[in-house]
Amino acid sequence: MPTIKAIIKGVQGALPDYVLTNQELETMVDTNDEWITTRTGIKERRILKEEGKAASDLAAEAVEKLLEKTGTSKEEVEMLIVASVTGDHTFPDTANITCDKVGLSNAFGFDLLAACSGFLFALTTGAQYIESGRLKKVVVVGVDIMSSILDYTDRATCIIFGDGCGAVLLEGSTENGLIDSVLKGDGSGRNFLRREAGGSFKPISQEVIDDRSHYVYQEGRTVFKHAVKGMSTAIQEVLDRNNLTADDIAWVVPHQANIRIIQSVASQLNFPMEKVMVNIEKYGNTTAGTLPLCLWDYEKQLKKGDKIVLTAFGGGFTWGATLLEWAYDS
Ligand code: UT7
Repeated sequence: MPTIKAIIKGVQGALPDYVLTNQELETMVDTNDEWITTRTGIKERRILKEEGKAASDLAAEAVEKLLEKTGTSKEEVEMLIVASVTGDHTFPDTANITCDKVGLSNAFGFDLLAACSGFLFALTTGAQYIESGRLKKVVVVGVDIMSSILDYTDRATCIIFGDGCGAVLLEGSTENGLIDSVLKGDGSGRNFLRREAGGSFKPISQEVIDDRSHYVYQEGRTVFKHAVKGMSTAIQEVLDRNNLTADDIAWVVPHQANIRIIQSVASQLNFPMEKVMVNIEKYGNTTAGTLPLCLWDYEKQLKKGDKIVLTAFGGGFTWGATLLEWAYDS
């Protein structure tokens, strides 16, 4: 029996229509376009404003279009994983809601929470089901509606995040697909980037509303340093383990949190920026959405056989790098 590899068969994004520009943020907090652009690389981000809409709506849109694009019937999908920190509810999970909205009657689903590394962790998890031969078609979604948990009076945090979603279809193949993943965690970093309240540790109360602990808190500089180190070392480890160098890699797909983090990682590993996917200027940091949104934006430039490294760092701390070979020409 030949070894089964998991390949990405297609990628699709879904974004809210509303564009929140740096100029509009200037009217909300004490900031300016020049600071945001030079310190983060972000010019605008998308915000889900429609009442009654949530993460599952973006996920459902992305999944429906993904299935159409790849010629996949709804009945064929056997599992759907949603990576998110801003699912529709604490429970039930957003994956099940998405399956229902799309009509994936043969699929089971579950949510996976690993903050900005969520898509990477979910991709690796989905691939295991394919590689083991257990399942044939798996959809992996990264989606976050960060605007639902942001404090729009905290200028250091609210300016970097946005809302967005991306989804990929995984299938089995005898050709190369996902090759290897280095996934890491360090829970001692939990206080530097977190949403403290809203779970069992600190349920929502009037006190929580007053002290604003139901919003995202980030100690930016500390997270910045750990992000550069975490993504650089994870990429190096996955390259070394597979006897590859930067020259063998066609594309690096980094988590989009700050252009200066991306540039530091690229320069430490000698990747020219031409090989690095960047779309942060349009969407900001969409947490679990950044990696599939990058693949979607760059899909037409990818060629079958391209070696690609995805990398992410986020709350937890969680981080990692995944090496794969692209499976198709667009
Ligand atoms: O996605 C998950 C992981 N997250 C990340 O990887 C994000 C990592 N961190 C960052 O990207 C950056 O730390 C931020 C973009 C969040 C902040 O940038 P920074 O260069 O680290 O700024 P800082 O927090 O060190 O603040 C520098 C100065 C401060 O003023 P003083 O104390 O030097 O007078 C801030 O008050 O910039 C000020 N500042 C701002 N000024 C204008 C902070 N935010 C703003 C703002 N507009 N929006």
